[in-house]
Amino acid sequence: MILRPIAGGLEILAPAKLNLFLEILGKRPDGYHELETLMVTIDLYDRLRIIPNDSGMIRLQSNDPTLPTDDSNLVVRAANRLRSTVEPGRAERLGAAIELDKEIPAQAGLGGGSSDAAATLRGLDQLWELNSTPEELTELAGQIGSDVPFFLHGPSALCRGRGEQVEPIALNPESAPFQFVLICPPIGLSTAAVYGGLTPPDSPTDANAALEGFRNGDPDKLGPELFNRLQPVAERIAPELVPIRTSLDSMGSAFTGHLMSGSGSAYFGLARDRDAALDAARRLRQLGTTTVRVVQSGF
Ligand code: C5P
Repeated sequence: MILRPIAGGLEILAPAKLNLFLEILGKRPDGYHELETLMVTIDLYDRLRIIPNDSGMIRLQSNDPTLPTDDSNLVVRAANRLRSTVEPGRAERLGAAIELDKEIPAQAGLGGGSSDAAATLRGLDQLWELNSTPEELTELAGQIGSDVPFFLHGPSALCRGRGEQVEPIALNPESAPFQFVLICPPIGLSTAAVYGGLTPPDSPTDANAALEGFRNGDPDKLGPELFNRLQPVAERIAPELVPIRTSLDSMGSAFTGHLMSGSGSAYFGLARDRDAALDAARRLRQLGTTTVRVVQSGF
């Protein structure tokens, strides 16, 4: 997350994430799933411009006309949740005008809405001078959505519980960022529907090999360890995703591994370096794969 002062407020770049490993450990009594996931931010950003005011109202505008701007939007929910921590006399004067430019596709498993919510919490906490502790913000973030706390702690972390328990993971400082080819098919998948179709495994896959490859910063070590338990479920719900996997498979050594992110539908290939990623992206575009971007891991 990148914060920059602008006239009267803050501009925040809210990054997308990729899940490099995601295993389900079991279903919980509260209906959520206990999981273990390795997440990393990438340089694909939504942009928020937040101008505080004393109207007591949160007004959200977006460049995306399909995006709800009422309190079903996680940005509005985050702002209201943060305001509810303030004593009533003061809270009724806390307002903001928020402009949200969406670049991160929705319902793609890239965490766009969650990242926007985390950016709103951090931005408004600063602009409203609330001085919440990191623990307080993380607690609020977890109440808004399972992935929201991660974005307060990126760029990379192992997340547990329902995703809200965040253990930051340091990248090898000597190594270059990971280079990915990101494919965003024009299909939205509901997170709840994908989790709903899942049967937790009897013997879960261990995260250690993926973690080791990630810490090394070596795409050849990380690629074969990429893993997502939700992928077969997503492919059952949306069979249109299968040809994406098979076309990346058919590109052989262009990628050290490839995977669907989160509950989908975004898909990524891990390349050895930037040039290999740019070359693979060109070939995928020639195959007619629609939205293809080269992105890199955050640092
Ligand atoms: O926490 P969030 O609102 O992002 O979760 C959306 C939905 O995804 C939940 O309502 C639940 O159905 C499912 N989910 C789950 N286990 C998790 C995270 C999400 O079952 N760890």
